[in-house]
Amino acid sequence: MGFLNFKLIISNLVLLKRGLFMYPLRRNRRLRTNDSIRYLVRETILTPSDFLVPLFVVEGKGIREEIASMPDYYRLSLDNLEKEVKELWNMGLCAVLLFVKVPDNLKDNKGSEALNSNGLMQLAIKTVKNACPDMLVMTDVALDPYSSYGHDGIVENGKILNDETSELLAEMSVSHAKAGADFVAPSDMMDGRVKIIREALEDESYTDTGIMSYSAKYASAFYGPFRDALDSAPVEVKNVPKDKKTYQMDSANRDEALRETRMDIEEGADIVMVKPGLCYLDIVRDIKNTFGVPIAVYQVSGEYAMLKAAAEKGWLNHDAVMMEQLISIKRAGANFIASYFAKDAVKLMG
Ligand code: PBG
Repeated sequence: MGFLNFKLIISNLVLLKRGLFMYPLRRNRRLRTNDSIRYLVRETILTPSDFLVPLFVVEGKGIREEIASMPDYYRLSLDNLEKEVKELWNMGLCAVLLFVKVPDNLKDNKGSEALNSNGLMQLAIKTVKNACPDMLVMTDVALDPYSSYGHDGIVENGKILNDETSELLAEMSVSHAKAGADFVAPSDMMDGRVKIIREALEDESYTDTGIMSYSAKYASAFYGPFRDALDSAPVEVKNVPKDKKTYQMDSANRDEALRETRMDIEEGADIVMVKPGLCYLDIVRDIKNTFGVPIAVYQVSGEYAMLKAAAEKGWLNHDAVMMEQLISIKRAGANFIASYFAKDAVKLMG
């Protein structure tokens, strides 16, 4: 230690002993006196590029149907998807996450329709890229919207098959990459799927296609409205698990999230995700402090629905609570947020 540093420490100790760093000389409220000083010292700022916008796509034309449990959020047919992404782009929103609602007659246990190169997802990717070439397109990779059982993987004898599912997810990812997706986002929580997807993309020369892995995805009751939106809830049939607890994580676990995340990074994930958002911000901070990788947080459908419902009743101030929640997610360590509030929030930013 240099002599000057030593002297500084001693003189600080002397000041501390005299109480000079304490009240009343130290008044923390000085930094909160008015907006100007609050803005100057603000630690976390939201901008339009902090958002990934989830979009629900349906077959048909001219469709823009509101989702009952997600007020002000819509399923869009491809023509309206085109309009929507142009509007998002003009607002400064630069990334979308695509989901499709698949008609029942196209669903089966293996989610075969997911591999159709002219399927709804593949067409949706092309639609976005044609409308806005620089809009970043991420796609959900899991079987559930395509599964007759509403599970993220193949169901056999009451179980969800891991390795067989991962092979399909890899094919699905290649199909999305072919259609023009920038990132594939496996949301299924099968073991080892990031590695298998990465290898499949490399084999097909999609070396630039990224993987955003849902690394710490919890078996959450907050996904209810999303499953309404896509009509993708697990079906209640004998020998089909009624929930996703054998693959999605137990909400009681924290260390396990780090193990899952570490493995996904080692397997080749470019971005890791924590999902849901608000209840899991300790996990976000753990990952932020442990690994130097970009973190996405998914503020999920149930979080959106809760605030919409409370605001509708006049019990919460919609805009203020929305901004507080989004800022808190970013403060916890998110690099960006998948949120149904993206447009509302950007409008408020003015
Ligand atoms: C599909 C998937 C789900 C969500 C995103 N991808 C549902 C689920 O896992 O059951 C939920 C998103 C939300 O609730 O907003 N694997």
